[in-house]
Amino acid sequence: MITVLDHSLIKHKISIMRDKSTSTYIFKQNLDEIAKLMAYEVTRNVVIREKPIETPICPTVGYEIGQPIVLVPILRAGIGLVDGFRDIIPTAKIGHIGMYRNEETLEPIEYYARFPKCMPESLVIVTDPMLATGGSASAAITQIKQRGAKKIILVCLVGVPEGVARIQKDHPDVDITLAAMDDHLNEKGYIVPGLGDAGDRLFGTD
Ligand code: PRP
Ligand code: URA
Repeated sequence: MITVLDHSLIKHKISIMRDKSTSTYIFKQNLDEIAKLMAYEVTRNVVIREKPIETPICPTVGYEIGQPIVLVPILRAGIGLVDGFRDIIPTAKIGHIGMYRNEETLEPIEYYARFPKCMPESLVIVTDPMLATGGSASAAITQIKQRGAKKIILVCLVGVPEGVARIQKDHPDVDITLAAMDDHLNEKGYIVPGLGDAGDRLFGTD
């Protein structure tokens, strides 16, 4: 399933991020704010269980999260979404997977992977600002499945139909949530209109 969040606040904030004159500091600030909104949305149906509680007035039935939640940012740019998600889900555990695209071939290269043990019983939320060819996210999800993950949601800020189609083909069981669906990829594999190189804009590299 693919969900594109249709929300005025997100449209406003993502436009600030797209603007090439936006500083690293403001870029991250808006990413944090969007991440919180996305976290709220993608956890809408997380498993909950009943828990008896007592209010100051009477006993009643409350609820608590009923499964572990693991965030897996795709390094490096995926880290940018973690702070906002952790603000909303402070008990989430964090796995890491390092991927970068070979600039010529656009093929993903893995350079790091470390995950908590609870992957099989967890809701695993994979984060990356950009879903371009989909190669990085697809390879990351393959690794995550090899660690036993069964329920995976891919959360990206900006995607294109090409990237979505790649994930749907390689991993039809994975739900995708985007803050925006852009038009296409250019000849260098950048999302158009996009926001440029997310990692560089987030960390101030060039
Ligand atoms: C960017 C982005 C994604 C990937 C998307 O990472 O953060 O991981 O490109 O492209 P794809 O869908 O075509 O694979 P990049 O390779 O620039 O590495 P970085 O996060 O270290 O900057
Ligand atoms: N990776 C980025 O950081 N930006 C794009 O537009 C495509 C891939």
